[in-house]
Amino acid sequence: MQDLSLHILDIAENSIAAGATEIRIKIVEDTGKNLLLLEISDNGKGMDSKTVQQITDPFFTTKTVRKVGLGIPLLAQAARECCGDLTIKTEKGKGTTISACFQCDHVDRKPLGDICNTLIVLIASNPEIDFIFEHRKDDDVYTLNIADIRKELDGVPLNTPEVIKIIKDDISAWLIIANNMLQ
Ligand SMILES: Nc1ncnc2c1ncn2[C@@H]1O[C@H](COP(=O)(O)OP(=O)(O)O)[C@@H](O)[C@H]1O
Ligand SMILES: [Mg+2]
Repeated sequence: MQDLSLHILDIAENSIAAGATEIRIKIVEDTGKNLLLLEISDNGKGMDSKTVQQITDPFFTTKTVRKVGLGIPLLAQAARECCGDLTIKTEKGKGTTISACFQCDHVDRKPLGDICNTLIVLIASNPEIDFIFEHRKDDDVYTLNIADIRKELDGVPLNTPEVIKIIKDDISAWLIIANNMLQ
């Protein structure tokens, strides 16, 4: 995967597959600490300890029969390549939080990529899910709360082109500000 936005998409798709009705996607860029944090948490079905063990077992990928995929191990690898790490917190029946941290200026750190497009794909194809996106860049923070937007829409479907365009423009406007901030 070329950039972190594709990892985010992949991890959020696990949450959708787990039946989540609320998915929080958090990005924290802390230039002072030289740290980038990604966190995806959901209220889906959670995992039992055996599944968590299989995902995190470094030797598990070498087995010929693999019942679980590579989405989480690949993000873990991307984090470890940048002096970071991945952690899984999960409770059966309650939900899951996947956190990955990276040394921000590490040469191997993948770029964030097209965060706007990732969010729009998730929101437009899962209009019933309450996505909450939070992006912190040092002292600035942007929050997008789909449940709040849905309330304001007063019955207008979330995934109409007009509504999606408004959401897209809002995220884009923030990202322009965030990307122009002095490092
Ligand atoms: N958010 C989640 N909630 C519940 N189970 C999950 C979640 N994320 C991952 N899993 C479990 O871990 C497995 C491995 O996930 P992943 O590494 O992304 O590979 P894949 O999605 O291809 O199976 C999934 O198949 C699923 O059983
Ligand atoms: Mg997956």
